[in-house]
Amino acid sequence: MSSVLTGITTNGSPHLGNYVGAMRPAIELSKKSKSFIFLADYHSLIKQQDPKLTHQSTLSIAAAWIACGLDLKNTIFYRQSSIPQIMELNWILTSITPKGLMNRAHAYKAMQDATSGKDKDKNVQMGLFNYPILMSSDILLFNADLIPVGSDQKQHIEMTRDIANKFNLTYGNFFNLPEPMIDETTSFLPGLDGLKMSKSYLNYIDLFSNEKKLQKQINQIKTDSLEPGEKKPKDSTLYKYFNCFVSDKEIEKIDSYFNEGMGWGDLKKELFIIINNELAPVRDKYFDLMNNPTKVEKLLVHGESKAQKIASKNLEKIRTLVGIRSL
Ligand code: TRP
Repeated sequence: MSSVLTGITTNGSPHLGNYVGAMRPAIELSKKSKSFIFLADYHSLIKQQDPKLTHQSTLSIAAAWIACGLDLKNTIFYRQSSIPQIMELNWILTSITPKGLMNRAHAYKAMQDATSGKDKDKNVQMGLFNYPILMSSDILLFNADLIPVGSDQKQHIEMTRDIANKFNLTYGNFFNLPEPMIDETTSFLPGLDGLKMSKSYLNYIDLFSNEKKLQKQINQIKTDSLEPGEKKPKDSTLYKYFNCFVSDKEIEKIDSYFNEGMGWGDLKKELFIIINNELAPVRDKYFDLMNNPTKVEKLLVHGESKAQKIASKNLEKIRTLVGIRSL
């Protein structure tokens, strides 16, 4: 049976992009496959250095997974930071990863492009540069097969395969080559401005807020001043939102709204109703968990003891392969 693994960086409270791109598909898979779901808290330290935010975000992302219906029977649910073997593997993989491979990483190149002046690396932390290696360690330590991610993460999975291959050729076959699982329609929910939804760009919609705030954020989705119907409305950011929240059947109804030239304001009201209907049933559960951090902690500790067993067994084998074993 193939295993599924994915993580979310604990970089603030969860947004709709996390939900659509990673959480919702992973939760569906967790009902039928063995899954590893984790909170990438060490990854978060690269993006921000606010200890309170890191701590709070770990709780809120964990609470969101549970509230949204993660199947905790089939799933091993843990914090990255509770599995020290990930860090050990990170070093082993760092030792064989060509620097040239990391030079090509989109996130690193984007940071360089955004930096003015001669020293393009002036804002690049080593953590950002090495980010794909840590992500490879997350995946390879558990020898996971399928990685549900948003399309922006595709390159990282390709790099993981490259690194796994390099290890297998150097030390002998141990790692599976994981496959990304990307639903092209829903894996990429744009932000309010049509670009990638991200905490860093402040263009996100909260996964859990009250109805009023949800409506307000939906109203901020950028539309153009052309009448709907004049341009190709299906290219609009708003249409992409509908696509992520309605079934193939229901999209026909949405198509007709667009074709009949329904105004942006009314379309946003429709969109709010659809998104709110999906989120309302889990919202109370989320806030209840947020008020009961010990409940969340307990579930994580339970998952972590299971994850550690697999992690230490696999790391032992990896260490033996590289020649680190008792004399
Ligand atoms: N890089 C992912 C993101 O920002 C989070 C992540 C870290 C991840 N490690 C992972 C996702 C391993 C899948 C598998 O969305």
